[in-house]
Formats: sequence, C-alpha cells, structure tokens
Amino acid sequence: MPVSRRDFVTGALASLLATTGCAVRKDPRRAAPNPFPAGIASGDPTHNSVVLWTHAPPQGRERQQQRSVAVRWFVASDDEFGTILGSGSTEAHADRCYCVHVDVEGLSPSKRYWYWFEAAGQRSMLGRTKTLPEPGRPCSGFRFALASCQDYTAGYFGAYRDIVARNPDLVVHVGDYIYETPGGSVRPYPVDEAVTLDDYRSLYLLYRSDPDLQRARAELPWLQIWDDHEVVNDWGRDHYLPSHYNKPLPPETFPPRKAAALRAFAEFTPLSREKRERLATRGVRDRRIVGDLLELNFLDVRQFRDEPACVLDENNHFQPCEDVHSPHRSMLGHDQEQWLKRVVGQSHCRWNGLVQATVMAPVRMTSAEGVKFETDAWDNYAAARDRLVSDLAGQQVPNLVSFAGNIHAYYAGTYPGPGDDRNAVITELVTTSISAGGGGQGRYDSFHRQHADNGMCQFFDNRYRGYLHVDVTPGFIRATPVTVDALNPDALPVAALPHWTVSAGQPGISVSSDGIS
Ligand SMILES: [Fe+2]
Repeated sequence: MPVSRRDFVTGALASLLATTGCAVRKDPRRAAPNPFPAGIASGDPTHNSVVLWTHAPPQGRERQQQRSVAVRWFVASDDEFGTILGSGSTEAHADRCYCVHVDVEGLSPSKRYWYWFEAAGQRSMLGRTKTLPEPGRPCSGFRFALASCQDYTAGYFGAYRDIVARNPDLVVHVGDYIYETPGGSVRPYPVDEAVTLDDYRSLYLLYRSDPDLQRARAELPWLQIWDDHEVVNDWGRDHYLPSHYNKPLPPETFPPRKAAALRAFAEFTPLSREKRERLATRGVRDRRIVGDLLELNFLDVRQFRDEPACVLDENNHFQPCEDVHSPHRSMLGHDQEQWLKRVVGQSHCRWNGLVQATVMAPVRMTSAEGVKFETDAWDNYAAARDRLVSDLAGQQVPNLVSFAGNIHAYYAGTYPGPGDDRNAVITELVTTSISAGGGGQGRYDSFHRQHADNGMCQFFDNRYRGYLHVDVTPGFIRATPVTVDALNPDALPVAALPHWTVSAGQPGISVSSDGIS
C-alpha cells in the first residue's frame, strides 16, 4: 500500500515521541527500529573542515538502561562508498541526548564530500556536504539559500525540497529554527510551551522528523544562528518580554530556561566543538570568508541585547521615547560591536555581508495608537544602530549587504550612512518565513498604504512563505524569492517572485522578472 507523506510524518512523530526528552520509552507500534530517527546533518563548514552530526538513541530490549551507543562515522570522496577519506568511532551519550558531533578537518576547499554513520549494525542514509572556497583565492560565484522562521505547527517545510533541488553551496538559517509555542494548528505539537530541557529536546526531535527538513540537513551544509523562538519570544541577555505569546512565569524561571534552550540548540546543531563551548560567552557570532568574493559576518542579536525600551503593549510594539536613543543601550553588546568593527575593517572581499536575525531599517506602523515599531528590531536600539552604521561607514567597507529574516515577509531596501548622510550604505535583503504566519493581505495592504513612511523599503511582500535563493558574483548579487504553499504537505514548489539584483558599487536593488526560474 502506498504510504502518503502525511502517514510518514505521523509515523515518524509517533516513533520520535517514544524517545521524547531522551527518556527512552516503549513504543509497541514501532516495527523496524531506525538507529538515526532524527537523520544526519553537516554544518559549520570552513574551507577545510565541516562538522557531521547525528542522533543515535539506544535500540532493542535493553535500551532503557543503556547510557551510551557506539557510533562510527565515514567520509568519502564519492557517492558510492568507494574512496573513504576518513572514519572514526565516537559515542552517543544520554547526557547529550544521544547527539553526536564530529569535527572533520584536513579537507580540500570547494569540494563535495559524502558521509554516513553506522550504529546498532545499521548504516544511516548517505549524506552530502561541501567545503567553502579558500579565503582570499579567486572565486567567481557562490550560491546560498537564506531561510528563517519555520513553525512546525503553522505549515509544512516544502521550501526545503526546492532548496535541495537547486543544490546551493550552503544553507544560511537566520533563526526561529524551532518555535517554543505552537503558532498554528496544521500539525500536532508535543508540548504547549517549551520550558525544560526535555521540552526543547523533544521539539528538535519533532522538527527533525520532517522529511523535507531531514533531507535538506543531510544533503547540504548549513550555517545557522538563532533568533528568539529557539528560547522564548523576544528574549535578551537576562530577560524576555512578557507577551500574549507565552504563559506568565516568574522572572526567576528565565535563566534556567535559557540555559536549557541553548543546551538543546548546541546538542542538535552541527557546530564545531569550539563554537559549542563558547556559545554562552560569545553567542553565535562567527565569520566566514568565501574566496575573494564574499565575507559573511554572523551576528548574535539576542544574547547580549539590553532590555527593550518604551514598550507599548503585549504584542511587542513600542513607541519611541528617550531610552531608544540612549547611547548606553546595545543590541550586540560591547564585545561583539568591537569585534565586528575590527573584522569588517580587515575585509578584502568584493561583498561584505552581515548575517543577522533582524531588519535594520525602520519599519513604521501607524495605528489608532499612533506610530509604533517592533521591539524585536534595531528600531528599539536606535543609538546602537547609529553607532554600528557609523563604524561601518567610517571604514569605507565596500558593498555592504545585510541578510536577515524574522519579519515573515520578503523585504529589500537600503540603510543610509550616519548623521545627515542620506546616501545608502547598506543593502538589506530579507527572507520570508519557511512556514510561520505572515499576517495576510491585511498586513500587506496596510504596509503599502504607509509606504511613504518607510522610505528605505524597495520591496515588501508578506503574503508568501518560502525562502531566498542568493546568487553572488563579482559584478552583482541576484536574490530570488522562491515561494511555496506551506499549507499543502504535497505542494510542489514553487513560484518565484521577481528577483532582486544588487549591482556592485550601487547599494539598493533593481527588481526584474526576466529569466525567473
Ligand atoms: Fe519568526
């Protein structure tokens, strides 16, 4: 009997929930055990290394007592298990929710590799990955998929099918990889709100049960940062903003909750050992140099931000007051601001990217209460934004582009230089959500009615779910918004909206429908 995609997902969910929170439970429905129920993945690539990941919970009758599982890993230079370049043994341990990270080093630049795991006498699916071009060497092109905001309950992850089909060099995920609360009712959720380590772990297991996401994780290398929903809506250094999204909990529950969420993120994300160990102190900030073409500076806009100011309501809005302009408040924190200023000043690349969760340009909304903005965004940290732009403009960094997500809408525009300088210095390219809700036609109409208020915007469309396919060349960046019906589990991607072209030396986009593919 043919198995529909929905049956597959339901079966996978039942199987995963049997190991919710890593406490292995008996599942009488389970037929053939799969030693890798959450699949395999690669990530954190450099020009000569990559991190392999899997989750290998115990199998068989003794599994409740088993604290660790022996796992073997293999890397090959072809897809037929032929030339094995490296292999090793490791252990999936209960303390790490049976997750395994393997730092594979000594690889060649710009090269495709294949990998797999073995546990309990079984081989995993075959994975593919790729290293980055060597820093400083000539590079004529690089393609990546920009993704964000995948609420499991709000829809399906069909966008990843198209990402796999286009076979980019990298997937860049700018956060909201999981949602701590269900924002929709399209698919069932095991928790009403994640608070404990077991809760967060069970969400990662659930998300990784999605076949489209599993395949994209297995076949492409990822670099990812977090936004707020990996922990709790609108969190910062030592606080989060109470809102209608979350149940009211005493403030003292936040530090252990944040620690649990960050631990689960580290367990389930292919990050190098060094990066996992410094998550609590340096966050997800990182830097990659792609040949002589593109520098990607990954920012942590969450872990070091000060409390939001001038908060208006429980929907994460604010109306500007004096505190927004206080030079003492920061979005990135002092250390990260200094780091960014230093590394961007050293760049020799054609394009200089900021990879971050949030949008830089002001997004004004006019309502019955007057003009308001989102607390999540740089708007709430206006003085810190001025400082950042001033630092970047002062170093005359060429071709600055900010790649972001968070707002569940496609957005493109520019951001001007500091002070009275109204010339654009940064181009902003923002992807929509993989599945999280976008606010519909009402939000679209209202935004475009107020377009004059948001003069830095050149493109806004919140009506579609999908991702942004980004093609970087020395002369231009072409970004294609690729959309998908996230409410249909079997929907084939995809319709492409007009693509955006950023020409080198000329901030901002031109919009074109030519050659949509
Ligand atoms: Fe989101």
